[in-house]
Amino acid sequence: MLRKVLRQCYSIHRPTYAVPRLYRRLCSSPSETAAATISIDRSSLYNPPEHSHQPSSDSELVRHLKGIIKFRGGPISLGEYMSEVLTNPKAGYYINRDVFGAEGDFITSPEVSQMFGEMVGVWVMCLWEQMGQPHRVNLVELGPGRGTLMADLLRGTSKFKNFIESLHVHLVECSPALQKLQHQNLKCIGEENAAQDNDKITARSSFGTPVSWNATLEQVPSGLPTIIIAHEFFDALPVHQFQRASRGWCEKMVDVAEDSMFRFVLSPQPTPATLFLLKRCQWAAPEEIAKLDQIEVCPKTMELTQTIVERISSDGGGALIIDYGLDGVISDSLQAIRKHKFVNLLDNPGSADLSAYVDFASIRHSAEEASGEVCVHGPITQSEFLGGLGINFRVEALLQNCTEEQGESLRTGYWRLVGDGEAPFWEGGDEGVPIGMGNRYKAMAIVNKKQGVPLPFQ
Ligand SMILES: C[S@@+](CC[C@H](N)C(=O)[O-])C[C@H]1O[C@@H](n2cnc3c(N)ncnc32)[C@H](O)[C@@H]1O
Repeated sequence: MLRKVLRQCYSIHRPTYAVPRLYRRLCSSPSETAAATISIDRSSLYNPPEHSHQPSSDSELVRHLKGIIKFRGGPISLGEYMSEVLTNPKAGYYINRDVFGAEGDFITSPEVSQMFGEMVGVWVMCLWEQMGQPHRVNLVELGPGRGTLMADLLRGTSKFKNFIESLHVHLVECSPALQKLQHQNLKCIGEENAAQDNDKITARSSFGTPVSWNATLEQVPSGLPTIIIAHEFFDALPVHQFQRASRGWCEKMVDVAEDSMFRFVLSPQPTPATLFLLKRCQWAAPEEIAKLDQIEVCPKTMELTQTIVERISSDGGGALIIDYGLDGVISDSLQAIRKHKFVNLLDNPGSADLSAYVDFASIRHSAEEASGEVCVHGPITQSEFLGGLGINFRVEALLQNCTEEQGESLRTGYWRLVGDGEAPFWEGGDEGVPIGMGNRYKAMAIVNKKQGVPLPFQ
């Protein structure tokens, strides 16, 4: 099956970013800060500059956050802060804009190369085969961004009529601006204003596939076999941080200081999220916890995993989670990125992306606790995942039939997806050096046991 898919389904569709070409051009003009642009994905940990404390008039979101803190009469958790900053329905970071690519704040794998979405398409098709080629399937993507992954997946698999005709695509997206972009990028037809309305609207992709938008996974209708993709979704879920103090673990909270700037304080007593800290610690070895002074937990990850598992247990199918993270307790990874630079978490909230390492061990434990009907596979590295699905063959096939510029772009995109460390071909300064995503990004599958072990997790 895998060979058949790779042989039949692909042709060069869109060029990957012409990265080396762009880098060369940028490095010949070093005054341009864009040298750092497309190099920043969200997985690196950098020390951001100290809080700038520059006076500026408060944005709508800052006023809103200060209002919550004032009316509560005390600080809010970092989790609540992150949730408001990213997804506040009026002024959240994701709500009103396109944040991806060279013009945005960071780059993601589907935006690096068409091959990423195509390889995920191979994974989905192979799972569909293992599921017995059902006539109707819900293909759900959580947080589709620009819709690039889904567009490449549908295009890549479009020659497989039985597969493509079985799909109903459900995009789970909180941002009206991104819903609109997804509608455009999937070349949806028939319902021109579909993406401007509220949830559950349906349009048709250019491949004839019905596409619906939902605000949450719970809103996706159940009752059909379901395949769920979550690429760089879990890292956007709000995390809570705890710090070890003489009185025990204290939650890190966000408060407003006398100078009207946001600042961190520690909770004087246990908070509601402490329950999740206790749960997380029970899943870890005491030695692992003993060496940490800070622990990050993500209650939403545990809850979402439970929802995914319940759906897969009752309806059949599986989920693919790809993200940056670790297979163990995370200490302190939350970071803010604006315009491809790491900035302070509390600076001008709403103008920078916030994301945190995904705790894959916590996903595994949550899944196993939620149901005995599913199996958890991985995490394996992105490099192992894409390599196991045949990206090497794919890039070679594409290189047979491309222009010089496309070839350069394909090789770079390939390296970026599967490579590790600093790019060997980089000719510019230290600041903008592209870092391979192959080891830092990981893939995990949660699959109904009836489906057997999915590729390439055997
Ligand atoms: C980091 S982006 C990843 C985009 C895309 N998967 C990619 O790799 O290019 C996170 C995506 O999840 C969406 N998102 C974040 N939090 C969400 C939430 N709580 N509910 C629904 N969508 C959310 C964002 O609007 C965005 O589309």
